[in-house]
Amino acid sequence: DAPTSYAEAQGQGGETHQTTSDATMTLTSQQGIPVGDAQNSLRAGPRGPTLLEDFQLREKIFHFDHERIPERVVHARGYGAHGVFELTDSLSDICRANVLGEVGQQTEAFVRFSTVAGSKGSPDLARDVRGFAVKMYTREGNWDLVGNNIPVFFIQDAIKFPDLIHAVKEEPDRAFPQAQSAHDNFWDFASLMPEAWHMVMWQMSDRTIPRSLRTMEGFGIHSFRLLDQDGNSTFVKFHWKPRQGLQSVLWNEAVKINGADPDFHRRDMWDAIESGDFPVWDLGVQLFSEEDAAKLPFDHLDSTKLIPEELIPVRIIGNLTLNRNVENFFASTEQVAFCTSNMPPGIDFSDDPLLHGRNFSYLDTQLKRLGGPNFTHIPVNAPRCPVMNFQQDGHMAMTNPKGRVNYEPNSWGAEAGPRENPARGTTSFAAGFDGPKQRVRSESFSDHYSQARQFLRSQQPIEQKHIGDALTFELSKVTRVDIRARAVSHLLNIDADLAATVADGLGMALPEAAVAAKPTIDLPTSDKLSILANGP
Ligand code: HEM
Repeated sequence: DAPTSYAEAQGQGGETHQTTSDATMTLTSQQGIPVGDAQNSLRAGPRGPTLLEDFQLREKIFHFDHERIPERVVHARGYGAHGVFELTDSLSDICRANVLGEVGQQTEAFVRFSTVAGSKGSPDLARDVRGFAVKMYTREGNWDLVGNNIPVFFIQDAIKFPDLIHAVKEEPDRAFPQAQSAHDNFWDFASLMPEAWHMVMWQMSDRTIPRSLRTMEGFGIHSFRLLDQDGNSTFVKFHWKPRQGLQSVLWNEAVKINGADPDFHRRDMWDAIESGDFPVWDLGVQLFSEEDAAKLPFDHLDSTKLIPEELIPVRIIGNLTLNRNVENFFASTEQVAFCTSNMPPGIDFSDDPLLHGRNFSYLDTQLKRLGGPNFTHIPVNAPRCPVMNFQQDGHMAMTNPKGRVNYEPNSWGAEAGPRENPARGTTSFAAGFDGPKQRVRSESFSDHYSQARQFLRSQQPIEQKHIGDALTFELSKVTRVDIRARAVSHLLNIDADLAATVADGLGMALPEAAVAAKPTIDLPTSDKLSILANGP
């Protein structure tokens, strides 16, 4: 009889073969062709050379060879889940976005949490900022709130982002350290960047070693604008508040967990959702006018500043529940693409210079990471509302304009395709500008230490000790003493006792002078900034 498989064919030579003959579904190639033997490649004789004509072998190996896509240039290590956002308090009086208007409306969502500096395989408990990126599939298109678990950022202007990330990630010659902040380059950079020191205080606090992804806050950080039907604007800052409470681990615990279970956070999230213990976050907004903003003792367009809740309270307007694990990590979590410029009509940017750089960067990197302009066809990125435009073709294009018309204006009557709709479309706030075109940093961005001090003093004594311990530990890893000294001279601008404690811990003399700075102001402390004061 004629052999019916490669295995059988080769078996005629008296060789023994493993087969998948007990499989209940027939294995096929990517082309759907049934595979009879996936254990042995086609050879000229049992001990002869492997034949190029074996398309099964070639397909299996070429596909494997192409499994990897570039990991994200930052936030490479992440974990995602599906959920739903429900609005409980309408903002329709100040915002025309449907997602923030209709109380009770449920909007599907996808969330990806991440660390920033580590590579895709780095451990979960690194001391690092956590990404908190939310995609809401609204009726008016996708709204991405791409935030972190800390309400401020290291830098004020996006032009510094590549330097920040180069300094934070592994050093280019030796490729370490990977995910810890403890290294020369980061501290060299931070010690030369006064604007970073508010965020450095948060980074050295318990916030950067969270107990669980479920016990973190999330922040949109920038001021955004809400626009009403008439184009009137209200500034807004977004907050996610975990109903699970805020919790962190101790540094010694983090080190042990990283060794024992580098997947600690993703396992915890998966298990909670799988067992029906769905994590919930309330969405809060701080709403303020141009006049309110003018009264703040700092510039709200500066992402190194937060607005204390004592000055502008957080109003809870909805909640987000994560209720479904992904079925395919790669398809969803790895290929999800967030961008700060994805926002429905009624939500708009402020003039934060960090935000404007982000609006460019995310799409740009995704064009490379996801292989071209059609990544919105990947289900996790696809809007859940109708998409109609005249864009077409390109790698992996799954949809094209329907019919013959792929341009407008056109005069094809019933076949004309979609039309612009001024009543529904996006509008930008009609801001006025009055300065010359120049590369400049606003003077209103120049107080770098007042809020750093406010944060420190808002912490409970044990949390303050942790900050001192973390600074001492991290700086003790820095090999150059001049960098250590420069770092401590920033602390002198924040808190003399902290500077003395850290200098003492490092066995060095306290620097004689603080880094030159504009005079700081004493801001009231805030019990909202302490994890312990906010415990579950
Ligand atoms: C990725 C947050 C500033 C460029 C991310 C992610 C988060 C995030 C959460 C991961 C998204 C995901 O899970 O897929 C933030 C926050 C910032 C900030 C809160 C400041 C407030 C910046 C700046 C730039 C930038 C200033 C560039 C100028 C990127 C890039 C990615 C990324 C290129 C990778 C995106 C991808 O591959 O899909 N950021 N980021 N970020 N961020 Fe940022």
